[in-house]
Amino acid sequence: MKAVIANDHGAVALAKEVIEHLRKRGIGTVYLGTDSEESVDYPDYAEKAVMEFRNGGYDFGVLLCGTGIGISISANKMKGIRCALPQDSYAAEMTKRHNNANFIAFGGRISYKEPVGNILDAFIDASFEGGRHQKRIDKMMALEGR
Ligand code: RB5
Repeated sequence: MKAVIANDHGAVALAKEVIEHLRKRGIGTVYLGTDSEESVDYPDYAEKAVMEFRNGGYDFGVLLCGTGIGISISANKMKGIRCALPQDSYAAEMTKRHNNANFIAFGGRISYKEPVGNILDAFIDASFEGGRHQKRIDKMMALEGR
């Protein structure tokens, strides 16, 4: 498995944690920064990650900002992206099973009720169910550009 990771200045420490977690699981990582606390703009990092993801060979992407909100909204503006912002491991599992999310976002300034690594694992270990969910995803993606 391989993942692309990017974040703004609001989630530098959490991005490091995520990368370490993925590496421990044997998942390949390509990290696009920022690795500095200096202020940057989260849409730039969402764009970098999605452009890299589109080069192919990736199973998913991880995006992080202070809340996870700005960077996930930005990614979701780009064609073909379904970036989930799960609050816990239940939501992370379900977004793979039902939404077939290809990106997952987290907030570096958010207090999660469980370790982010567990939330990430729930996403990684789940599989898309297809069937009626594919029909809904087709409808969702048809909304792009409207
Ligand atoms: C940056 O200060 C902050 O706005 C950003 O990290 C994020 O939380 C936006 O949604």
